[in-house]
Amino acid sequence: MTERLTNGVGVEMGELRGTHVPVLLERCLELLAPALGRPGRTVHVDATLGLAGHAEAVLTAHPDTVLIGLDRDTEALAHARVRLARFADRIHLEHAVYDELPEVLDRLGYPAVDGVLFDLGVSSLQLDAPDRGFAYAQDAPLDMRMDQTRGVTAEEVVNTYSHPDLARLLRVYGEEKFAGKIASAIIRERERARITSSARLAELVRESIPAPARRTGGHPAKRTFQALRIEVNRELAVLETALPAALDKLTVGGRMVVLSYHSLEDRLTKHALADRVRSKGPVDLPVELPGSGPTFRLLSRGAELPGEAEVAANPRAASVRLRAAERLDPEAAQQGRTDRERYRRRVKAMHQPGTGSPGSVTDPASAPGDGIGTDEEGEGT
Ligand SMILES: C[S@@+](CC[C@H](N)C(=O)[O-])C[C@H]1O[C@@H](n2cnc3c(N)ncnc32)[C@H](O)[C@@H]1O
Repeated sequence: MTERLTNGVGVEMGELRGTHVPVLLERCLELLAPALGRPGRTVHVDATLGLAGHAEAVLTAHPDTVLIGLDRDTEALAHARVRLARFADRIHLEHAVYDELPEVLDRLGYPAVDGVLFDLGVSSLQLDAPDRGFAYAQDAPLDMRMDQTRGVTAEEVVNTYSHPDLARLLRVYGEEKFAGKIASAIIRERERARITSSARLAELVRESIPAPARRTGGHPAKRTFQALRIEVNRELAVLETALPAALDKLTVGGRMVVLSYHSLEDRLTKHALADRVRSKGPVDLPVELPGSGPTFRLLSRGAELPGEAEVAANPRAASVRLRAAERLDPEAAQQGRTDRERYRRRVKAMHQPGTGSPGSVTDPASAPGDGIGTDEEGEGT
């Protein structure tokens, strides 16, 4: 169903509610519920507020939860403010890049939080806007800044970077096989005339890619546009700082959920979580050295993917990867280590000649989980 809304400053919001479907919404709510549903006031950070689809559902499900919503896009914030108007007494909506979360929390007077959601990438508002330049399928000025109040535009990147810099960013951020060819075409074209439109760039990319390769892997300009967007918004550098900072702010039992839409984001997320779920102490010690135990446990097994029905209903969910983790009570983490050691010793003893049959050993998968073994482990909810 669609609804027409105005944002309170007279800007027509059109049919946003009908066109924007929050990704993996039920799963996000399920993962956050044990943290946000605890007695008393709980605090949730939506680090990528967007059109506030996830935020609205969290606020509805948890009447005692305070929401801190961040977005670097002022237009998204204006829309979110209208959508969340009925929760005005328990929301703080902040124009901020998510690596500024610690400063925002300090300013608002929240030393710790119970839930954090990152729903990365661009919103449907940004993708569909005819004037933002994110979409290769629409002609628009080459902007691509999520925060239009500051920073360099894609037009500046395309028209000023050297060939090696352009090729590197296309290869690394776009995982583009034809990065060198595309960079050469860009340089040739801009010597003729400044490249200012997304349609011209998309056409240049299409012409640079050999015909057989154009037929696979979606639109030929998809990877170039992704690379430019990441560069313009410094997306990976910001995310790399933001994830550990957000994890540090979680209370014991607090939970973080991350939705990534390409492998570079997912890899950073995986590593940020892996760093917290592993013991840093010596493997053979039966007890955890103080401060060396895991501080989080994974809630997702590897990266969770969307179901077929969700992708059919919402094609933007197709590339999503979900990872989630919960902050451990340090004493429970210690106990987990002890249990695991006991289990390991039992297994070892059973494999010694004359001490019993390995067949009687429990399946290793049912060993007491401590989140240390592999960063692909998870324990569900
Ligand atoms: C996929 S949308 C979020 C959609 C939202 N979960 C919903 O249900 O409506 C991502 C949003 O995050 C914002 N964003 C992306 N990177 C950001 C960053 N580094 N700091 C703050 N906001 C960011 C974008 O401007 C965009 O509005």
